[in-house]
Amino acid sequence: MPGRHQPSVGSVLNLSELFAPIADDMQAVDAVIRGRLNSEVVLIRTIGDYIVGAGGKRMRPAMVLLVSNALGYRGDIHHRLAAVVEFIHTATLLHDDVVDESDLRRGRDTANAVFGNAASVLVGDYLYSRSFEMMVESDSMAAMAVLSRATTIIAEGEVLQLLNVHDPDVSLDRYLQVVRYKTAKLFEAAAQVGAIISGATPKLEQAAAAYGRHIGTAFQLIDDVLDYSGDAHALGKNVGDDLREGKPTLPLIRVLEVGTPAQRELIRSAIKTGSADFQAVAQAIHDTEALDYTRQVARAEAALALQALDAFPDSTHRQTLVKFCFFAVDRDR
Ligand code: IPE
Ligand code: IPE
Ligand code: MG
Ligand code: MG
Repeated sequence: MPGRHQPSVGSVLNLSELFAPIADDMQAVDAVIRGRLNSEVVLIRTIGDYIVGAGGKRMRPAMVLLVSNALGYRGDIHHRLAAVVEFIHTATLLHDDVVDESDLRRGRDTANAVFGNAASVLVGDYLYSRSFEMMVESDSMAAMAVLSRATTIIAEGEVLQLLNVHDPDVSLDRYLQVVRYKTAKLFEAAAQVGAIISGATPKLEQAAAAYGRHIGTAFQLIDDVLDYSGDAHALGKNVGDDLREGKPTLPLIRVLEVGTPAQRELIRSAIKTGSADFQAVAQAIHDTEALDYTRQVARAEAALALQALDAFPDSTHRQTLVKFCFFAVDRDR
């Protein structure tokens, strides 16, 4: 497994170590997730079990639990809200793999590859609806407002991204907007909801939101790096999907900014057609150090996430939130 032998915080910090302080809570969340997938409609259970059973890192529900624990929450509604966040995430993955025509997810053939696009889209819709039902049960208008707004923003992000595909003139700002909408927003909502149910002050709630927003941005930037440099086995998804789709992510945008005229032309045409030679593009990315640049931008975001944690009282959970900042940028999966 590439990445194993490289000295990196990500390979030292494995997720089960990171989650140790919330292991019991994570188990409770898993029970909620499995219980709430229990539809009478067999195909929903089949696809739900298929994608949930394949695992996933569970970063977002962990964020709800860690923030609420760090801010002194006592109760059990955080389990349900953490499950809501994972349902929203899972729904976006089902839809995203249809849109991206991806065929590997969490180390398995994607649901769309196995059950077809229609079934994936409909079960994604089911998960969204289920998550709204569960949100209402939380009885927190403020949490519902944040989560339902986040769901709208994620959808906007995916549509904005659709508009960017095959467009070589996408700017850094337009790219970052997509990242903030499609990915960072759910991390932001997860952290913010953790603060809300804990009865945090507005200042702490905003710090939690900023933490989630920045770590989520870093997380997607690294996802975009891994799409060029990762190992499909470790990632559980194929590399090279972004290029095949003509997605202008930061590694390509960087080559367009600093590359030679020939490199720029290669990338422009790769984005326009989505059918470029992966090796030639990888070489241009390598020569312009575009992945290092993207990692630097991710690190700057992680540093902002870290800074937001200054407002939190010290605790084991806060320390885990700190470690998450390192994991987000230094990971191979
Ligand atoms: C994948 O998210 C989608 C992105 C926002 C990059 P994760 O990498 O958290 O996916 P799972 O849940 O661990 O499979
Ligand atoms: C993240 O973007 C998608 C969502 C936030 C739904 P990607 O398209 O890069 O995610 P992966 O790489 O397929 O997991
Ligand atoms: Mg995708
Ligand atoms: Mg990706």
